[in-house]
Amino acid sequence: MKRTLTKTADGSYTLFVPELDEHYHSIHGALQEAEHVFIKHGIELFKHQDRIQVLEMGLGTCLNAYLTCRWAQENQKSIFYCGVEAFPVESAVIAQCLDALGTVDNKERTFFSHLSYGECQALGSFELYPLHATWNSLRNMEEFDLVYYDAFGPRAQAEMWTMEHFKIAYDALKSGGLLTTYCAKGQVKRHLKSVGFEVESRPGPPGKREMTLAWKH
Ligand SMILES: C[S@@+](CC[C@H](N)C(=O)[O-])C[C@H]1O[C@@H](n2cnc3c(N)ncnc32)[C@H](O)[C@@H]1O
Repeated sequence: MKRTLTKTADGSYTLFVPELDEHYHSIHGALQEAEHVFIKHGIELFKHQDRIQVLEMGLGTCLNAYLTCRWAQENQKSIFYCGVEAFPVESAVIAQCLDALGTVDNKERTFFSHLSYGECQALGSFELYPLHATWNSLRNMEEFDLVYYDAFGPRAQAEMWTMEHFKIAYDALKSGGLLTTYCAKGQVKRHLKSVGFEVESRPGPPGKREMTLAWKH
């Protein structure tokens, strides 16, 4: 998959995929979007737990993983993070995206830009398991608190927003678990409800009116 590096409105980088005419993040600000959708409306909601298990659909440039790792250090939490990725991003590109944030130290840069797929690796209390697989090939994933659902948008990759794909997330979550996503399309929310999620809308990150939370009760 051909990808080009692009600067977004808050100075952070994203990738553009010409074949899909789609960016990896919001062009209004990749960092702001990730902090809003996955940190503020994701991991922050599990602050009462000491250990949190996160499953990410689309590890990509590791932006969400890095922010979650930093959050774990700041909040003294232990995190297990499984990042599923069908098309791993090259080390040098991950390093470039992280460098542009201006907050990443050498240890973090090396950790996230030299991933060993299929192996568990740790940075302090943050354990990362990068999994080279397609989402719909996942079997027997369970006991997660949180799913970061960060697929390309429905216009570019409609199949990722179907009931079949959401059922995988639903089954992977514990009771009380949460799926968070930037997408707020009506049809997507209906599919989430159909697999059993209780769906809530929240204000979106810059450039987006709303985002979605889906709870498993
Ligand atoms: C919107 S980007 C995710 C951005 C990422 N979370 C980040 O912080 O950079 C979507 C990601 O999903 C991956 N992807 C696309 N189809 C997939 C599939 N069927 N299974 C797993 N990953 C997939 C893409 O390669 C891409 O990295």
